[in-house]
Amino acid sequence: MESTTMMSGKTVIVTGANSGIGKATVVSLLKRQGRVIMACRDPGRAEEAAREILSATGAESARLVLKQLDLASLKSVHAFCRDIIEREPRIDVLINNAGIYQCPYSKTEEGFEMQFGVNHLGHFLLTNLLLDLLKRSAPSRVVVVSSKLYKCGDINFEDLNSEQSYDKAFAYGRSKLANLLFTCELARRLEGTGVTVNALTPGVVRTNLGRHVRIPVAAKPLFNLVSRSFFKSPEQGAQTSVHLACSPDVQGVRGKCFSDCKPQALLPKATDQEVAQKLWDISEVMVGITT
Ligand SMILES: NC(=O)c1ccc[n+]([C@@H]2O[C@H](COP(=O)([O-])OP(=O)(O)OC[C@H]3O[C@@H](n4cnc5c(N)ncnc54)[C@H](OP(=O)(O)O)[C@@H]3O)[C@@H](O)[C@H]2O)c1
Repeated sequence: MESTTMMSGKTVIVTGANSGIGKATVVSLLKRQGRVIMACRDPGRAEEAAREILSATGAESARLVLKQLDLASLKSVHAFCRDIIEREPRIDVLINNAGIYQCPYSKTEEGFEMQFGVNHLGHFLLTNLLLDLLKRSAPSRVVVVSSKLYKCGDINFEDLNSEQSYDKAFAYGRSKLANLLFTCELARRLEGTGVTVNALTPGVVRTNLGRHVRIPVAAKPLFNLVSRSFFKSPEQGAQTSVHLACSPDVQGVRGKCFSDCKPQALLPKATDQEVAQKLWDISEVMVGITT
């Protein structure tokens, strides 16, 4: 069941907030009287989405803040976090929602394979840079949007950048498995801080995520029919994100993965503490935040 908890006085950051699940999450948070920072890579698309969101919700524009964030650029992540730390006295919830799916082989600004770089490393750095602020804002929450397709990936430490071979479905699965291992390790590290972290898998949702997937022209009408009939709407897809961001039912719950607002069991590879810790250590080196 979706929570109806109000969010007055709370500030939430949503990455990838201009489209699909992220945009529907923003609508729901504004309806609960929250204040939302939309972290988006393209200012034009962000402004257009914000206009639609404000007209759909009737929310006052002061409760919606637009900020540029390109998770494929560590420089951009640093600049975004500097700005947030300078201007925001508190952050109550960080929702790591942005994602890219099965793109052709390409690299982020710093040379990481794009899906691993955006879905995992960009959010890894973002969360780490905002951790002190989240701790000062406790009780606060981190919400990580993963996918059931984590089952199709593995953390192959010997080729995290897919330089030896690139399989776009495997790379997406690996990035979403990394989201779950990140959640597991972060939960362990945050014990006793008042900051919780949980992940979710939203189900199959009608969004722009499939933009890189080529569907033959002849199959498009059938695909459209199937997606209209069987896929979740973005609003339905956003329910578990909103539940984890707002609901008192999950206060103090950490390190779990939810589906349809309920905890779900994961394959052992998604909760392997040793792999989670190793991935954390390597990710620190990759994004340059080793202590
Ligand atoms: N849709 C599904 O069936 C499904 C299933 C399982 C999990 N998920 C997960 O749900 C999350 C939201 O996806 P969605 O389905 O709502 O897809 P979507 O409509 O394509 O939205 C993805 C968002 O991520 C943003 N993004 C992509 N690359 C970025 C970057 N480098 N920096 C910052 N933002 C970036 C996109 O910005 P632009 O608009 O500028 O490209 C967009 O706002 C993703 O993490 C996805 O893996 C979705």
